[in-house]
Amino acid sequence: MAEDDEEPPTSKLLSFDTDSSSKSPKPPNLTPKLILIVVTCVAAAIIIAFGFLFFSSSSSSSHQPDVVSRPLKKLKHPVVLLISSDGFRFGYQYKTDTPNMNKLITNGTEAQLGLIPVFPTLTFPNHYAIVTGLYPAYHGIVNNYFLDPDNTTGGEAFNMKSYDPKWWLGEPLWETVVNHGLKASTYFWPGSEVNKGGWTCPQFFCKVYNGSVPFEERVDTVLNYFDLPSDEIPSFMTLYFGEPDHHGHKVGPDDPRITQAVERVDGMIGKLIRGLEERGVFEDVNIIMLGDHGMVGTCDEKLIFLEDLAPWIEIPKDWIQSYSPLLSIRPPPSYSAKDIVTKMNEGLKSGKVQNGQYLKVYLKEELPDRLHYSASGRIPPIIGLIDEAFKVEQKSSKRKECGGSHGYDNAFFSMRSIFIGRGPKFARSRKVPSFENVQIYNLVTTILNIQGASNNGTISFPKTILLPNH
Ligand SMILES: *[C@@H]1O[C@H](CO)[C@@H](O)[C@H](O)[C@H]1NC(C)=O
Ligand SMILES: *[C@@H]1O[C@H](CO)[C@@H](O)[C@H](O)[C@H]1NC(C)=O
Ligand SMILES: *[C@@H]1O[C@H](CO)[C@@H](O)[C@H](O)[C@H]1NC(C)=O
Ligand SMILES: *[C@@H]1O[C@H](CO)[C@@H](O)[C@H](O)[C@H]1NC(C)=O
Ligand SMILES: [Zn+2]
Repeated sequence: MAEDDEEPPTSKLLSFDTDSSSKSPKPPNLTPKLILIVVTCVAAAIIIAFGFLFFSSSSSSSHQPDVVSRPLKKLKHPVVLLISSDGFRFGYQYKTDTPNMNKLITNGTEAQLGLIPVFPTLTFPNHYAIVTGLYPAYHGIVNNYFLDPDNTTGGEAFNMKSYDPKWWLGEPLWETVVNHGLKASTYFWPGSEVNKGGWTCPQFFCKVYNGSVPFEERVDTVLNYFDLPSDEIPSFMTLYFGEPDHHGHKVGPDDPRITQAVERVDGMIGKLIRGLEERGVFEDVNIIMLGDHGMVGTCDEKLIFLEDLAPWIEIPKDWIQSYSPLLSIRPPPSYSAKDIVTKMNEGLKSGKVQNGQYLKVYLKEELPDRLHYSASGRIPPIIGLIDEAFKVEQKSSKRKECGGSHGYDNAFFSMRSIFIGRGPKFARSRKVPSFENVQIYNLVTTILNIQGASNNGTISFPKTILLPNH
């Protein structure tokens, strides 16, 4: 595990090093709303600075920021409520008024330019990275769907309903929490249905995924946990919403239906806040609201067809494990993967393959290190990195291609999601630089004062985000 390194911030968005959590890329085009806030802040800063000069006061800060975590008022132990809004692309929060999320932001700590997902920027690899602190190569969920390489000739396949613990490596937070004699609850999270270690997915505290359960019912169930006797209240809870991802796929990120989906999620946050306030515990709960990845529009025939590579090399369908946005290829063992990569790239660079310049193929060991996508037999030997918004298909078809997608390189700003932390361990109105979601595991174990399993987060990271103990 690396210690924090204080390199100067880079200004090129795509050149960040995902090993390090503390780089802040140049802000993207911000909305007028945000610019107004910035202008207001600058104005406020000038007034404050002037005030200091005038009254020649000491060099201490203008407001009184929290310097230590705030004591619990009602709860008897720290609680972390981890909320995921699937596919909540960074920036969606500026599409419309989000008064409830703003309540969390105003009195909480926010990653100013969003949370960086792990590669591939897909739902299962990312949700499981968040709760294990591990990159997919180490936590085992390398894609939403993959074949187990230990079982040759198309043996067993992992899919999003595979609850056999053999697929799920690492130690997810609910397991860490119950191993310490504390309680955990999961209202949906990839991997939460899987029995692992001391975690048995108890019916009352663990819901098996069913996307039809109304969001309201999920929020009410979580609120009801706070009505339990003190020592029954879980120390760690998850809550999951499948929006705005669901609509994002259907209509792309820039559609009024996304704005509506964002409003709906914000409404659920409002319902949650009111419920916690009624119970007198809103100030006591450490709420972490985040998303697993962003979303980009895929339209305008941004397509690459593998059959166009035939003059260089034939890539049969059954070598392909996934096409887009993560191209992964497992040729039969009798073929040289290196040779296939060379020939594919020759074709792609020839100028004779439509959109060939938007795909680059690698032996997994030769992918950029920042992707951490090679140290697992489950990752096929050949990986293609596809440019933002492009898609790879086997052959040309008449299929209409318009919607949204994610799974691309995690360096793309469109793949970024949000991070907001609010509660006794989070400073009020604080902005922090973007960081990778493998850091979340250590944040949660630090808040709960428990020793976590070894992982890919940085040990010193939590102290850069959380308030020290009071
Ligand atoms: C932030 O916290 C302060 C102090 O508890 C409270 O007075 C204020 O209403 C809160 N603001 C929001 C937007 O929640
Ligand atoms: C290999 O796959 C077959 C068919 O899915 C399955 O029955 C068998 O248990 C698998 N073997 C191993 C060792 O995983
Ligand atoms: C999923 O949830 C819906 C809505 O609550 C319910 O009607 C349905 O029976 C559930 N499906 C399963 C398989 O439990
Ligand atoms: C990630 O964590 C695993 C488990 O602790 C470790 O084996 C691996 O070397 C780590 N990888 C990186 C890139 O830090
Ligand atoms: Zn997702």
